[in-house]
Amino acid sequence: MPFYQRIKVDDKTAVFVWKITESFNDLFREVSLKDTSLARLEGMKSESHQKGFMAVRMLLQYNGYTDFDLYYDEFGKPHLKDGVNISISHSFDFSVIILSDKNVGIDLELRRDLVKKIAYKFAEEVFVYECKDNSDEFVSKLTVIWGVKEAVFKVRNEIGISFKDHIFVRPFEMKDEKTTALLDFNSVEREFLVYFIEIENYTLVWLWEAK
Ligand SMILES: CC(C)(COP(=O)(O)OP(=O)(O)OC[C@H]1O[C@@H](n2cnc3c(N)ncnc32)[C@H](O)[C@@H]1OP(=O)(O)O)[C@@H](O)C(=O)NCCC(=O)NCCS
Repeated sequence: MPFYQRIKVDDKTAVFVWKITESFNDLFREVSLKDTSLARLEGMKSESHQKGFMAVRMLLQYNGYTDFDLYYDEFGKPHLKDGVNISISHSFDFSVIILSDKNVGIDLELRRDLVKKIAYKFAEEVFVYECKDNSDEFVSKLTVIWGVKEAVFKVRNEIGISFKDHIFVRPFEMKDEKTTALLDFNSVEREFLVYFIEIENYTLVWLWEAK
């Protein structure tokens, strides 16, 4: 099943989800890639990463773009030539993009128990410690927090941002499907509006800076 879901966020913002069930060859036949992308593809170690990369191009094509409309800046942040903002994420079975008039960030994470073991590296949030340590909810919340921090980084991508020390996700309930976050870095505070949903055993987060 290729195209999976379109989530309309507002008039100028939408999230697009691709579920990767195709083979490498099926995807390769369908996407047109510029030389630099072909070189990147060839250099990728895992077929899973290659398929995620091509599924992103399928989502571009679904939206009337091709790989030729996409370029990366020196930090690895993707841009579209027509000025529409894009953010990209891929994880095993899914690739996602968000297109918007705002500077947006998106992240997709597979929910895994492992997140509990590494939480101390990225999460200081008070409510983390209020959750029952072995509940499914705990893994869900930690995965949201992780995703928010990746997505904030994709929006700001400033050298020196620490997930643990500079990005704070405000308390939320899973049923809310939204929260806010603060980036407090280099004496500047920036607020983000955060949205999240669960798709199968993945957590999808997208956000942008509140003005
Ligand atoms: C760049 C980063 C955010 C990518 O996130 P990820 O979860 O590893 O991978 P994802 O699939 O979600 O995202 C990958 C996409 O992010 C985009 N990306 C890469 N660098 C980016 C940047 N500097 N700014 C915005 N987007 C970026 C790219 O589109 C990339 O996919 P593509 O190259 O195939 O187009 C992440 O690797 C990173 O460097 N994080 C910050 C470092 C850090 O603090 N880590 C954790 C400490 S506890």
